[in-house]
Amino acid sequence: MPLNTDDPATSLPEPGADEAEHSLRLIELMQSEMSTGPIDFSRFMELALYAPGLGYYSAGKTKFGESGDFVTAPELGNVFARCLARQCAQVLDELNGGDILEAGAGNGALAADILLELENLQQLPRHYYILELSADLRQRQHHRIAGIAPHLLERVRWLDDFPETGFEGIILANELLDAMPVSVFHVMDDGIMQRHVTMEDNRFAWTDLPASPQIRQRVKALGLEGDYCSEINLNAEAWIRSAATTLTRGIMLLIDYGFPQHEYYHPQRNMGTLMCHYRHHAHTDPLAYVGLQDITAHVDFTAMAQAAVDSGLDVLGYTSQAAFLMASGLDEIMAGSHPDDARQHLDLTIQVKKLTLPSEMGELFKVLALGKDFDASLIGFSLQDRRDRL
Ligand SMILES: C[S@@+](CC[C@H](N)C(=O)[O-])C[C@H]1O[C@@H](n2cnc3c(N)ncnc32)[C@H](O)[C@@H]1O
Repeated sequence: MPLNTDDPATSLPEPGADEAEHSLRLIELMQSEMSTGPIDFSRFMELALYAPGLGYYSAGKTKFGESGDFVTAPELGNVFARCLARQCAQVLDELNGGDILEAGAGNGALAADILLELENLQQLPRHYYILELSADLRQRQHHRIAGIAPHLLERVRWLDDFPETGFEGIILANELLDAMPVSVFHVMDDGIMQRHVTMEDNRFAWTDLPASPQIRQRVKALGLEGDYCSEINLNAEAWIRSAATTLTRGIMLLIDYGFPQHEYYHPQRNMGTLMCHYRHHAHTDPLAYVGLQDITAHVDFTAMAQAAVDSGLDVLGYTSQAAFLMASGLDEIMAGSHPDDARQHLDLTIQVKKLTLPSEMGELFKVLALGKDFDASLIGFSLQDRRDRL
């Protein structure tokens, strides 16, 4: 069975024999689910990314960094983490202590660097919890923290699920929501359809079926016109509701790429926001390279804020990554760099540019802060707060 790769639109590097073999095992699993009919795209994406032992995030492939498929902010260096740590320090100080819970911790770089910076700031959390679906990534996180901050490892605990309730502190997630399986809808002349995946001539193919009542109702409310395809992330909304139940006092910081709703469902964005990454090649075909490539969708931050408010959280701030980092001590970190150490200074400058330039991550990435029983103004939103755009 082919890997759905002979589409001329996707000129991707060839996977090695081991990768192809791995992908075929996942394809067989998907095919067995399709024996009773097409599967909803969100289920396809869930299997592609998280099928135990086979999905992109569950299996042992190197995903992050230069030797992987894409680079995230914590993988660029420690500047992102050091700024986030300053925001965490303010909250831990306001709360007179507390814990941090990071969801979807990737390689563990953010956890290790936040802990080191909080140690410098003398504001360590009691515990640093990591909620991670992937067994492979848990191992990598343990290894990373043990390598960089071995003396702080005793504070780190891995969780299978959110604590039921009573969490005080900061719930943190960088590029988590974009990695959750989305439903894909298609507005057509003859109604609102939900995109499913089927097998045709031994290849995966899209097929549109009438949308579920929930998706139809949500899409109708968006008032979209013409032929329009996009996504709704019900899993991310459910995740926010679970986090809201856990959080008793403190904040949640969600960092991801995306837009407020009116920009997300802009008439010109009628092909949606699904993106795939394979060895630093970005393309838009999620049915290709099954289990070998990352699949993501941008985040509708208005929907996230609405889910939060519906769950009893307050929306404490919304801004660009650039504005958040600049308000969270980026200038102090820059000032602490030694220009005589040319290599370190250059590395710092490169990181800051990638994190903050509008043409890089500075504008597309946003920070949304949600809170419960927390009244203080957050330092990260002191330069700019765009809650009115949500
Ligand atoms: C795009 S990666 C981002 C990793 C990391 N935060 C970073 O910035 O490098 C998404 C991460 O979220 C994890 N993940 C996805 N869904 C999750 C869920 N429901 N709960 C916890 N982790 C999840 C994945 O296994 C992966 O570690």
